[in-house]
This record gives sequence, structure tokens and C-alpha cells, in this order.
Amino acid sequence: MWEYTEKVKDHFFNPRNVGEIENPDGVGEVGSLACGDALKLTFKLDEKGKIADAKFKTFGCASAIATSSVLTEIIKGMTIDEASKVTNKDIADYLGGLPEQKMHCSVMGREALEAAIENYRSGGTKKHELQGKVVCTCFGVTENEIERVIKDNNLTTVEEVTNYCKAGGGCGGCKGEIEKIIERLQGDKAGQVIAKPPPIARRQTNIQRIQLIQQTINEQIRPALRAHGGNIELIDVDGSKVIVAFRGMCAQCRLTEFTMKDVVEAKLREFVSDDIVVEEDKESANQPHNHRE
Ligand code: FES
Repeated sequence: MWEYTEKVKDHFFNPRNVGEIENPDGVGEVGSLACGDALKLTFKLDEKGKIADAKFKTFGCASAIATSSVLTEIIKGMTIDEASKVTNKDIADYLGGLPEQKMHCSVMGREALEAAIENYRSGGTKKHELQGKVVCTCFGVTENEIERVIKDNNLTTVEEVTNYCKAGGGCGGCKGEIEKIIERLQGDKAGQVIAKPPPIARRQTNIQRIQLIQQTINEQIRPALRAHGGNIELIDVDGSKVIVAFRGMCAQCRLTEFTMKDVVEAKLREFVSDDIVVEEDKESANQPHNHRE
């Protein structure tokens, strides 16, 4: 599990401004379930052109929820011009920092804000579109976006870029191109690694681990699947191997094996332990199920 600041924990356990504004002035939707994080931000302006209300809906990890929550707090009271200057670093700083591997959540917040502002400026017609050449096809990250995270956060290694925008975190085929972008922007600093403290290890008993897995499925995973007509059942836990079955829409979806399994694995690694491997129990998934758990 990651080490979070008190502020991250506070906004995760007590998220502010959850939901969606009716007839909003701006809407920004970014990310996708398949990539493990998705965020929808809506805002409404007052008569002076300041953001009077902002709400969010997200499917993501603790950091995604905390960054979305804090983002809505940051932009309330701002004009559109002021809000357009908010960076992912502002969001992370407001939370007292995020684990390096979770910085992409702050970037997702900034992207949702940009998309919502763009939507507002277009009179509600424009939706978020990828700008520029796509460098990482696994996660749909463009050259513009990679340049932006490098500049905003003074990144010098491919690993950092992956932490901030996911580019390079799939097949790895784009890493060479990311390296060239870093070299072009950072010159001599490119490739420098800044030493970071090792993560703090926590001990878990088997019972604690199983309870935490079940709790994470109940609270973090099942609600999102149900919203899409599906469900998930914990079948067994064998050391670091977690066997699950998908029900309803999830069981029938042809992409299940490649997307939902990865999403569930990412969530369990986030909340329980980073050595977890998820396997799907296909036989059990075909059995009749009453969807009542
Ligand atoms: S193309 Fe970027 S990780 Fe696969």
C-alpha cells in the first residue's frame, strides 16, 4: 500500500463535491475505465463569471478521488482565467504531495479541468480530444501531453514520465521516443535520477489481507461495475493470487480479460499489496447468479 499524507486520506475518506451539476457551464471528461482511472468534472459560474460550484465523479484509486475532491475546492471562487492556470503540481502540493507513482492522478485532474474550460469556451459543444501526435498508443498519450508534464514538473527520466501520465507503462514500445522528448527539453539534465526514500513496508496477516481484499472489492470495485450492469465475486485467495469471477455485463464483455482484470489488479495493488496477481475464474463466471451480493 502507498503512504499518503493526512490531507490525501481526508479527501479520500471524506470527498467534497461528489456528483454532477445539472445544466453545468463546463463539462470535462477524461480517462477511461480500461486505463483504470476516469474523471468527470462539472462546474457552474456565478453572475460575476467566477466558479460558484464544482462537482466530480470518478472511478479511480485513493489518489484519484483525493485529487478530484481537492481540485473542486481549489477552483471554487476562481475566474476561468485563474482556473486555467492551475497545474497538476498545484493540486499535488495542495494535498501535501502524492506518491510518485500516483502523480498521474493530479495530471488527470488538471486535464479534466482543461477539458471543462474548453467545453465552456466552446459554448458547451467541445469535448476533450487528444491534441497532437500520439506517442504512447497503449494509453493514448500525445507528444503535447508528455511535453507538458516534463515542463510542469521538471521531469528527467522515462520512469518519471510514466508516473505522471502513464506513457511508457504498457508495452514499453514508446520509451525511446519519450527519452528523445526528455533530451530535447531537458538537455544535460536528461536521465538524471533523483534518489527517493524506499517505500515503507507493512506487515499483513493472511486474515487481514483477505479482509482488505474483500473490503476493497466491496467499496472500490463493485460500485463502479454495477453502474455498468456488471458485478464481481471473490472466489479465492491463495497467497498473492486473487481469483475472481465477473458477472452480468462484465462476464459477457469480450474485453473483460484484458481490461477489467487489469483494473481490479491495479485497485488491489493500490489498497492491499503491490504483489497481487488477479486471475479470472471463467467456469464460475458462467454459472447462474442472482446479482444480490
Ligand atoms: S506504446 Fe507506450 S507503453 Fe505501449
